[in-house]
Amino acid sequence: MLVLGIETSCDETGVAVYDSRRGLLAHALHSQAALHDQYGGVVPELASRDHIRRVLPLVRSVLHRSGVRESELDAVAFTQGPGLAGALLVGASFANSFAFGLGIPAIGVHHLEGHLLSPLLEGDPPRFPFVALLVSGGHTQLMRVGGVGDYAMLGETLDDAAGEAFDKTAKLLGLGYPGGPALSRLAERGRRDRFALPRPMLDQLEKSGDLDFSFSGLKTAVVTLLRKQAPENNPETAERWRADVAAAFQEAVVDVLVAKSRAAIEHTGMDRLVVAGGVGANLRLRALLNDAAARDGFSVFYPALEFCTDNGAMIALAGAMRLQTKGPPEKSYRFAIHPRWDLADADSVER
Ligand code: KG4
Ligand code: ZN
Repeated sequence: MLVLGIETSCDETGVAVYDSRRGLLAHALHSQAALHDQYGGVVPELASRDHIRRVLPLVRSVLHRSGVRESELDAVAFTQGPGLAGALLVGASFANSFAFGLGIPAIGVHHLEGHLLSPLLEGDPPRFPFVALLVSGGHTQLMRVGGVGDYAMLGETLDDAAGEAFDKTAKLLGLGYPGGPALSRLAERGRRDRFALPRPMLDQLEKSGDLDFSFSGLKTAVVTLLRKQAPENNPETAERWRADVAAAFQEAVVDVLVAKSRAAIEHTGMDRLVVAGGVGANLRLRALLNDAAARDGFSVFYPALEFCTDNGAMIALAGAMRLQTKGPPEKSYRFAIHPRWDLADADSVER
């Protein structure tokens, strides 16, 4: 099964060709980070226009590098939601017209399904069922994954997503957009124990086993810290102060993510945890999850660092898995997009 994958849900144009026998054949990504940096966040209209410019050249280049001819493709998979409406429309209309031209099916993929299946791109993939920790810029969820399309929510964030909290705190510390990677680099040089920040929702875990998250209070705690203990004028001390705040913040987020993941493994009686989404690239999170796994006796699976953030490979893979498990969708080329879409309803909406 040869599937072309197209991801355009936010600020990255991702394209890939996946072969269900040989694995990933080629992929390419264009990040719009530089385009949006000056605005401090993604500008939806600029994102849509940039996807229009990039998608076709990227498809040509990926097909060329994969050695696959258009006529050999079995399907085109595209991100159908959730995401920015205009950005999703670019991918959906491109994928449907390309598939129509070739007479093959176009398969709508849920963006988060792509993320949580992304560790299956690796050499030693996890078997179903497993617990998935999805930590991206827009979502923070713990799910029980029984198979393709079989997703049960165990817990999710009540306010900011983990990646969003990283980005907002990075902004407070004067780092660019997206701030997650920059904040975690700064945190490497900081002391984790200089400032005590709250661990939101950990009490609830102890009391009632609640697996939900809340990160907006943590950002507020950083604002308060900034107000109360502004760094001195000395640039050297100021830099150390910022690194210590970054380290304290990262440690608080990671502690909560690790504690809830361990509890989800315990509650479900499973022994496999899959971590996916942009924050899954965080090395401190990986280190503490690996420690917990060794202690508690479960295995953790991650996508390669480059496939933690948005990419076309995970969409091509999810499309190929859908094709294999659910068969080809109707070739109607009537497409809908779903800017808001719960993963638990992945199979109950119009595709
Ligand atoms: O999965 P993703 O590419 O996009 C969404 O679907 O949202 O995730 C992007 C998020 C951003 O918030 C970014 O700051 C965060 O992932 N991120 C990180 C790291 N790398 C990316 N957060 C913490 N540490 C990192 N190393
Ligand atoms: Zn994503």
